[in-house]
Amino acid sequence: MLTQEQNERLTRVGPGTPMGNLLRRYWHPIATVSQMKDRDTLPIKLLGEDLVLYRDLSGTYGLLEARCPHRSMSLVYGIPEKCGIRCPYHGWAFDEKGQCIEQPYEEAEDPDARFKDKVTTVAYEVSQMGGMIFGYLGPKPAPVLPKWDLYVAEEAMREVGFAVVPCNWLQIMENSLDPVHVEWLHQYFLNYVLRKLGKDDKQRPVKPHVKVGFDTFEYGITKRRVQQGNSEEDDDWKIGHPVVFPNLLKTGHVFQVRVPQDDNHTAYWWYRIFDKESGMPITPQADVDIPVYSAPVPLLDGSGLPQWDILDNNSGQDIVAWITQGLVTDRTKEVLGRSDRGVIMYRKMLEDAMRDIEAGKDPKNVFRDPNMGPIELPVEKFFLGRVSNTIDKTSTGNTVKYSPLIKEVEEAKNRTAAE
Ligand code: FES
Ligand SMILES: [Fe+2]
Repeated sequence: MLTQEQNERLTRVGPGTPMGNLLRRYWHPIATVSQMKDRDTLPIKLLGEDLVLYRDLSGTYGLLEARCPHRSMSLVYGIPEKCGIRCPYHGWAFDEKGQCIEQPYEEAEDPDARFKDKVTTVAYEVSQMGGMIFGYLGPKPAPVLPKWDLYVAEEAMREVGFAVVPCNWLQIMENSLDPVHVEWLHQYFLNYVLRKLGKDDKQRPVKPHVKVGFDTFEYGITKRRVQQGNSEEDDDWKIGHPVVFPNLLKTGHVFQVRVPQDDNHTAYWWYRIFDKESGMPITPQADVDIPVYSAPVPLLDGSGLPQWDILDNNSGQDIVAWITQGLVTDRTKEVLGRSDRGVIMYRKMLEDAMRDIEAGKDPKNVFRDPNMGPIELPVEKFFLGRVSNTIDKTSTGNTVKYSPLIKEVEEAKNRTAAE
């Protein structure tokens, strides 16, 4: 249980809040290169700020406050120029550093005044890796964009899922430190959903947990579990779903990144790779061709009934757990048990990192060595083999149900079978 004050300290992400200050020390995914293929601008909501991502005619990306500093028209309607973006209202133009570089009327009436030199807008740094575009909102200089393994994996096919989840980011992260929910939400409840859908034949065995454990490692927390029928010698007891501080979960060959848009909404990214062992044909795939799909958010339907057909997979089940806890769940009313040790450990890690910042230090996972190489993260072998590293259409793991690459493979198989 937390006090209201502690809960706010951990959940509020706007400018000037302790958690907002912490999360501003990291690069966050904001879009894919492929999403920008056929558009010039994209509205971005990040850590309580309304921004616009644009690409100018020279191919340079910029991330600016959406509000034009002149008289506030949105630059989401901005026109890309050779350098920078032009506001459609009165033609002021800005470069990716936020400098005003043209003010057509001002310059016509008084060319020598150079009023534009005094006008700037809020601008943030942008970087790219593995087909994702990242933004950094924190103090300068920006740290190195870490090469977490899946972003830089070679000989792999990639796809990216996206959803806006209407709740605070922390209840999503806490779910990642909670092994026991797998048995209930993804097994027992899943079976109930399957019954509702008339698919009893697809039911999963429910494997009761007999022991859970948590360890810190260099980059975050790993969790472990023993379920009935397993032992501590099994791989699954050794490593399960590492949580990479502060907001990334690695499940097999998927990164699940939870990026707060504001206190009440979280941009959710599923970044999946298929390597050679997955059975996926590996063909040349440019960043602009990485498919992006939406994962649905299960809300009650008009008559107050659950949407069973999108609750038959882990992402649907997890999302419904997160959003029904409330926009920002009231942790003054929670009752934590033994199963919640990982949640407590993670909250403490967040608190330590906020204190580091208050003491003027870089928090965990802020890197400064520009020559640092890829960072290999632990992986749970059991999960890797079973779900994310295999093309298994019967799986209900995370968003496999919506995977465009798996769909393509299935369609190709069906075509061959029909010939
Ligand atoms: S509001 Fe943008 S140029 Fe006037
Ligand atoms: Fe889950």
